[in-house]
Amino acid sequence: MLIAQITDLHIQPEGEKAYGIVDTNQFLAAAVAQLNHLNPQPDLVIATGDLVDEGSLAEYQALKALLAPLEAPFYLAMGNHDHRDHFRQVFPTLAYLPPSGPVQYVIEGHPVRLIVLDTLVEGESYGEIDDPRLAWLETALAQAPHQPTVIFMHHPPFLMGIPGMDRSKCRGSEALAAVIRRYPAVQRVACGHVHRSIQVSWAGTVGSVAPSVAHQVALQLTPTSKNAFVMEPPAFHLHLWQPESGLITHTQYIGEFAAYSYGTKEPLSLYA
Ligand SMILES: [Fe+2]
Repeated sequence: MLIAQITDLHIQPEGEKAYGIVDTNQFLAAAVAQLNHLNPQPDLVIATGDLVDEGSLAEYQALKALLAPLEAPFYLAMGNHDHRDHFRQVFPTLAYLPPSGPVQYVIEGHPVRLIVLDTLVEGESYGEIDDPRLAWLETALAQAPHQPTVIFMHHPPFLMGIPGMDRSKCRGSEALAAVIRRYPAVQRVACGHVHRSIQVSWAGTVGSVAPSVAHQVALQLTPTSKNAFVMEPPAFHLHLWQPESGLITHTQYIGEFAAYSYGTKEPLSLYA
């Protein structure tokens, strides 16, 4: 099973740029084109939040148009830049969406069970798993406690050593960790929000953060640094499930890079 995780799309109304600088819509178009060229194709694509930048209907409509060419089935999660009602208005026919409340759901029918959490606190940059959302997760985990499972959520519930971003991590993380520790079948807690590729050991499993398909967050480890974005290469995560080895996470950069055969030294086209 192959899961492509894209994150932090920050889609704009058509013709606009994020912060007046980043053409996030063009970045998503490039990501979709590269996902469509993957061989083998991913079984599904999941976007872990900050789907759009300000939560407007126009942004969700632009997102819908940009995702239309995507060949693999896609699943969407909420980030702090998202707006649940506007999202539901523009995507009313996604069968997996609960009709109201947090956008939390389980993706069944694959070797790995995927649980999507909603960490959004509207109007805030930090995230939260409150008691009702945590109770929902406990019920979901208890329904198939031994099946390999990946939890997807926007805000990391763990610290990342980037003080400016750690301040907006997911609140309620201690209670969340206590639940996850009881389910060793959880292979990964796969997040977004930090616009970098990060791996940590957390709650008896592996926590990971996927890079953004657009701009990245600068790696600033000093306590006084202010958050900054940096145009490091866009990328996504590919989570490959092999029963004999578990879940393997690769970082795939988006773009066309020179490639050569080790044998003939001839240029190769990896993207045709
Ligand atoms: Fe983001």
